[in-house]
Amino acid sequence: MFNKLLVSDYNIIQAPMAGGVLSPELVAGVINAGMVGSIASGYLSLSDCEQFIQRVIALSSNRFILNLFIEEPRKTSLRYQKPNKIIEIEQQLGIYEQDWFEVPPTIAIHDYLKLVDKYQIPAISTTFGLLSQDVVKELQLNGVKVLASINSQIEAQTALATGIDGLIIQGCTAGGHQAGFAHERQNPLSTLELLQQVRALDRDVVLIATGGIEVSDIHAYLNEHGVDYVQLGTLFMLSELSTLNSSLREFIASKSSSDISMSSAITGKSVRGINNQLMRELDVAEYPFPIQHYASSYLRAKTKSLGQFEYAGIWLGEHQSYQALRFDDLINDIKKQF
Ligand SMILES: Cc1cc2nc3c(=O)[nH]c(=O)nc-3n(C[C@H](O)[C@H](O)[C@H](O)COP(=O)(O)O)c2cc1C
Repeated sequence: MFNKLLVSDYNIIQAPMAGGVLSPELVAGVINAGMVGSIASGYLSLSDCEQFIQRVIALSSNRFILNLFIEEPRKTSLRYQKPNKIIEIEQQLGIYEQDWFEVPPTIAIHDYLKLVDKYQIPAISTTFGLLSQDVVKELQLNGVKVLASINSQIEAQTALATGIDGLIIQGCTAGGHQAGFAHERQNPLSTLELLQQVRALDRDVVLIATGGIEVSDIHAYLNEHGVDYVQLGTLFMLSELSTLNSSLREFIASKSSSDISMSSAITGKSVRGINNQLMRELDVAEYPFPIQHYASSYLRAKTKSLGQFEYAGIWLGEHQSYQALRFDDLINDIKKQF
């Protein structure tokens, strides 16, 4: 039994993954297996986020971490001119509709915290930024654990100064966006290298390692490298309980680690995924994150729905293989590491 963060049978966390890949059934499956789930609030409306939370609780319990994006507040939705290169690709593919795009307003942190209170959510994690010291303290007084995602030792120090309970140490091999907040440059550190730097800070907080971790690495991370929890994203996403359809699964299964790269041109922030035509053709971001994310979101969503995966954004961590495991088999393989 582990209780450094939340009471669980296994110190394994299913990673938050925004962008519609997680299903409530997947998160609940992880929780029901005695592990810790995560709900990704990123890109969801507040009511969709609340419905997701309700569904997970109905299927399992509230043993999950609610992940929040920390962004510069936007009070209203804003309209921008679409970058020419993106228009050109949309025209070539015959899907072009308009030369502008909209960026929705942000959801106030306070509104998420009302959900935390209403559903007695035991932990939250932040991505792309930090909560203020006062908010951290208030959450902790209400029994909520607070975690922050970091990509460097400096970010770890900055995050710890806000009084948080733990760090999500994300190496450059992680699927999806690099979740830190202080650096423009690409993170050069593997999960293990970053973990060593963070451990050198010698602080008594919960350490969670994430990024490119295989099932066969779990035992070493927990028993030799001194982390409290291992967080897995891609491996859970490939199981049948995620929302990926069968043609996308087949496309992913045909890939190997040499087909995976990092790009900051698609969304304005470093993101790891399949090195497809989109990654090769888009070489500069006209806007910073998250504006560039919205600039390319119609193109990515449309091509994904049409099965034109060469122009979709398919985020994956660096792994030996992308053959899916059935959810129950994945859970059993993970349990064998204990
Ligand atoms: C499709 C996808 C979406 C992601 N979305 C988020 C997110 O919303 N918040 C976050 O903190 N991390 C996000 N991540 C990063 C994961 O939480 C985690 O760091 C990563 O999956 C770990 O690497 P792995 O996929 O190799 O296990 C995402 C990753 C993927 C693959």
